[in-house]
Amino acid sequence: MHSELILILDFGSQYTQLIARRVREAKVYCEIHPFHLSLEKIRALAPQGIILSGSPASVHDPSAPTVDPALFELGIPCLGICYGMQLMVKMHGGKVERSARREYGPATLKLGQSDTLFHSLAPELPVWMSHGDRILDVPQGFSVLAKSQNSPIAVVKSDTKPLYGLQFHPEVAHTPQGAALLGNFLRRVCGCQFEWTPQAFMEAAIRRIRDQVCDAHAVCALSGGVDSSVAAALVHQAIGDRLHCVFVDNGLLRQGEVQEVTSLLEPLGLNLTVASAQLRFLEVLKGITDPEEKRRRVGRTFIEVFEEQAKRLHDARFLVQGTLYPDVIESASVKGPSATIKTHHNVGGLPERMKLQLIEPLRELFKDEVRTVGCALGLPKRLLGRFPFPGPGLAVRVLGEVTPQRLEILRQADAIVRDELEFNGRLDHVWQAFAVLLPVRTVGVMGDERSYEYTIAVRAVESLDGMTAHWARLPHELLERLGSRIPNEVPGINRVVYDLTSKPPGTIEWE
Ligand code: XMP
Repeated sequence: MHSELILILDFGSQYTQLIARRVREAKVYCEIHPFHLSLEKIRALAPQGIILSGSPASVHDPSAPTVDPALFELGIPCLGICYGMQLMVKMHGGKVERSARREYGPATLKLGQSDTLFHSLAPELPVWMSHGDRILDVPQGFSVLAKSQNSPIAVVKSDTKPLYGLQFHPEVAHTPQGAALLGNFLRRVCGCQFEWTPQAFMEAAIRRIRDQVCDAHAVCALSGGVDSSVAAALVHQAIGDRLHCVFVDNGLLRQGEVQEVTSLLEPLGLNLTVASAQLRFLEVLKGITDPEEKRRRVGRTFIEVFEEQAKRLHDARFLVQGTLYPDVIESASVKGPSATIKTHHNVGGLPERMKLQLIEPLRELFKDEVRTVGCALGLPKRLLGRFPFPGPGLAVRVLGEVTPQRLEILRQADAIVRDELEFNGRLDHVWQAFAVLLPVRTVGVMGDERSYEYTIAVRAVESLDGMTAHWARLPHELLERLGSRIPNEVPGINRVVYDLTSKPPGTIEWE
């Protein structure tokens, strides 16, 4: 399906996704698979090259993750990074020792021999090390190409097979020439042509969807978020009005959201139905304060509403979902699906229940690639730049019971947060910013009168993927405006606090 492919075997390194990012940025399509992918499957994938990732494990661990030795005999170029290198060396009869101390941080790589891997690189490079084990002896038939002060064997190469090993991490930003080095591996060792782009992906995806759906109909739960909007736009290009989009107004949306989303989507000419179900959601949330129970109830009701709508619309055979590559890797990688911290609400369970086949046109893409595809499909920038918003909506930002009054208070405060960020040009600097209504009343004084009202917490975070996050260093002037505007403009609020928790240990949402 892809004209070229780089296979990344994942040994559990925190940097595996980064390797994939770098390869994609070099315009080469790649996939991450667990290290134990069978040789048969590897042969079937027929990759141009294989990258063995790092790992928190040591090759000396009794249960150290390993590969079939025949992997190195396939004639496919292999690049071992850190653990990947140590494993390759050990499996070829070299010696790996536990270093007396872990080497972690910057180092200078000194290139010894010229090699195609180092094409156009300077003879000394700053690199990033992060390893416990190191190579003591290279196997017979291997040469040392470079060293650093702490690692006399920092780059190795087989003299007879297309195998390379790097002790450092070329994929991290602290190895500034890492992308060039990986580029040399991809082009000069693996012979890749650098032809993969999100646009090329898009054209192929449209053809694929047409073939898959033929003249049947498909439904899509559109939330107005980036992923579902891009997925819908892509499928719409492929099958036109046989795609039926349903936007469920659950009454848990932000101020003006229904109008905003429908007007942003209008130019795309989607076949869109807005299903108004506010009261139904409020009813099932009555008296519920437990965060997980709220999530479950909203999820269940969403599925019911969507199912009713979809059944009315047409005899659909397909369901479009905006699943992204990180979600796919999350459930398929070495570490396996992470333990449920929160029940993320999506249309899970629907395909089986309605006997629908899934179309997930974005399952190979990272978030920024989805934005590029969205841009090429003509989606407005405002839509592509929208903050992520949880499926259970404001139900998980009104702490305690969800009532129409409390939702209205939160909506007003949240609109002020977004308004101030936009006015101050901070929208592009943060991953997400929003207000949370706390069930805490405090004493204040307004005019000459004592007040006893609720508190708003402002949450703003910086993040690359939502998996980890740091609280955003918003300018004090902006925080001051929030502190003054919210209590002044939102009845029922007399105090504003700023959340200084990073993720981990906190999560981005409060519930
Ligand atoms: P947490 O709170 O888990 O959130 O740190 C990480 C990111 O995911 C968003 N989020 C959700 N997205 N359905 C979604 O589609 C959900 O149920 C959900 N809960 C949290 C959250 O806004 C943040 O960007």
